[in-house]
Amino acid sequence: MPIYVNEETQQFHLQGRNVSYIFSMTENEQPGQLYYGKKVKHRDDFSHLRQLPAEPLGNAAFPYEGNQLFSLEFLKQEYPGFGTSDYREPAFVIKHASGSRTSHFIFKKYEILNGKPGLEGLPATYTESDDEAETLVVTLKDSVAGLEMDLFYTVYHDRDAIVRSVKLRNVGDDHVVIERLLSTSVDLPHADFEFLHLHGSWIRERHVASNPLRKGLQSIDSKKGVSSSLHNPFFALKSKDATESHGEVYGFNLVYSGNFFGGVEVDLYDTSRALMGMNPFGFEWKLESGEEFQAPEAVMVYSDQGLNGMSQSFHRLYESRLVRGEWREKERPILINNWEATYFDFDEEKILDICKSASELGIELFALDDGWFQGRNDDTTSLGDWTVDHSKLPNGIEGLSQKVNGETGMSFGLWVEPEMISEKSDLYKAHPDWVLGVKDRPLSHGRNQFILDLSKQEVVDYLDETLSGILSSSPISYVKWDMNRNMTEVGSDSVPADRQGEVSHRYVLGLYELLDRLTSKFPHILFESCASGGNRFDPGMLYYMPQTWTSDNTDAIERLKIQWGTSLVYPLSSMGAHVSSCPNHQTGRSTPLDTRFNVSMFGAFGYELDATRFSEEEKIAVKKQVNFVKENRKTLQFGSFYRLISPFEGNDTAWMVADVEKGEAIVAFYRTLAVPNPSLKRIRLQGLKPDALYEIDATGQQAYGDELMNIGLLIPPMFSGTVTTDRTMIKGDFASLVWKLSEVK
Ligand code: GLA
Repeated sequence: MPIYVNEETQQFHLQGRNVSYIFSMTENEQPGQLYYGKKVKHRDDFSHLRQLPAEPLGNAAFPYEGNQLFSLEFLKQEYPGFGTSDYREPAFVIKHASGSRTSHFIFKKYEILNGKPGLEGLPATYTESDDEAETLVVTLKDSVAGLEMDLFYTVYHDRDAIVRSVKLRNVGDDHVVIERLLSTSVDLPHADFEFLHLHGSWIRERHVASNPLRKGLQSIDSKKGVSSSLHNPFFALKSKDATESHGEVYGFNLVYSGNFFGGVEVDLYDTSRALMGMNPFGFEWKLESGEEFQAPEAVMVYSDQGLNGMSQSFHRLYESRLVRGEWREKERPILINNWEATYFDFDEEKILDICKSASELGIELFALDDGWFQGRNDDTTSLGDWTVDHSKLPNGIEGLSQKVNGETGMSFGLWVEPEMISEKSDLYKAHPDWVLGVKDRPLSHGRNQFILDLSKQEVVDYLDETLSGILSSSPISYVKWDMNRNMTEVGSDSVPADRQGEVSHRYVLGLYELLDRLTSKFPHILFESCASGGNRFDPGMLYYMPQTWTSDNTDAIERLKIQWGTSLVYPLSSMGAHVSSCPNHQTGRSTPLDTRFNVSMFGAFGYELDATRFSEEEKIAVKKQVNFVKENRKTLQFGSFYRLISPFEGNDTAWMVADVEKGEAIVAFYRTLAVPNPSLKRIRLQGLKPDALYEIDATGQQAYGDELMNIGLLIPPMFSGTVTTDRTMIKGDFASLVWKLSEVK
């Protein structure tokens, strides 16, 4: 039983596989946090966990006269407001009709549901059968304000995730304005944590940063209208002694693709309040009498197996209970994309040549990138006009896709950027009012383009119709859905002046509606989301599109950091990773073909180059790569991923993926720069069966799992500056090696 309730003491104990989450109502009838961490045995009463001071505290405020031992200032809470004696960062702020922002929500009732209800209009993790999870709904009320609030907590029996969300209902007569309604807030009892998060930029996404918590508020956010590469909607609180494989970690991730806020406030008593939700900055939502507002959900993962334990919990949950549809847990086709091969400069003949060369090497899918529609010869024009450019493709998308299918046997995919509009386009001429913007103000450009106002129903309907037309007229089995700029001048004439603070969220809701319609209509299509690479890599998008183009940066060495950071939260099957040509287009660096492959095989694998230009030697190598991926795709995309040596800490990187059921593992080692006279190295592996004997393909040696995990895998000799022999397997800059381990049965 994952949810225990003590009605008398109003205590709730949520128990997952290895996790306990306990809270109860406090003296002022609002929920107070008691414990979140490793699973503990259930007992009837956990009241003793409520720590209150023994004597009145100086300079504190107390809600009840005569009770100087009860102040919200030192109470650990579940969903704190502001204005009634707590001065920390609140989880919600509501402006009432009176103009006041003081709320006081108290317990009204609770309910336990089998399974997990969906979130209307929003992406969310789910259950397939009611016995996978239970959901606790605690309803609070503020009678003065005429408001009710549902706090949702889902706990899965066999997972370590607690999923939270909040719904606010206006049951009063007046409207209120929601200024902040975060998705989760947890008060943890100490501050001995590091605040770990993923920051970055275009072509440098999701680098790992970790700093000890300090007093006060430390936070990450996005104000860009997308979840953004500046900060991912994820952070972890990691015990100072926690590593990749040991120690306690709490991960927080928001299932949302727009502006977000994540932060931790360390207060005067060294309590850490962790908060995550939609960004209150620039946001307000007018809630009329009788209306409800649903905040997105936050996924919280607890691990006592270090960061790898946390990541694996996120991966398993997202692979199987966030991603939906036909492509869920299905091996992804090996694709080739023409962007870096041709940019805008291609025609049907060139594309067919690439496809023919690629199909001979065993590549399975061709994705036609930007430049296929009317007038699109550079990035200054035509977004919005989704009609084919017959000068490049005389037989249209239909003719080209049929030829690709018929002549090469590959399936066909198409790039689109539906949320955008170029000023130079017929769509702009017809509908200048469809552009997101603020009246009478000039619009900032981003990649020479504007954003369509998806808060307008007519725009969503138009895009649905246009895209449905394209997708149903040709045999398209893959779509790369791009979004190449951040939002500015966020405004819309779809709502009045007092609702302009709703526009960026309404945009996201419009986008979700559009994606919901299209993915339901075209369930066989594999959708890959992209936003100048990884500017919108978040669980919200993964709900609709099972994979995301991880980064426009295809340099193998840069990808080590990007894929390492991304893997903190997101499964390998969700990370688009391609081999591209050298010198690399983003860094100018040249790396060996095998290293480019050794990095990108750990993801939704493909190529991003001109396959007609391979030398004979490269063709042999690529054929081998393709075969290797086909043979090991299940392990590479859905095995358990372990980060071993961090690229953020030195010259070497190592990681591995293990499929315990299949008795296989694939281990990779990368050395960025050659080291003269290098030391002899061993890497301790993880996730193997201790008693199983493994054969190691690169060396033909055999070793037991416990040896490999405790003594380590011996890295073969590296070039030491004298002669290269048959045994020298690592030489020069940007070298790498991959081993396959197979259980000897
Ligand atoms: C973005 C994408 C690229 C490519 C171009 C096309 O930058 O991230 O992969 O599709 O757009 O314009």
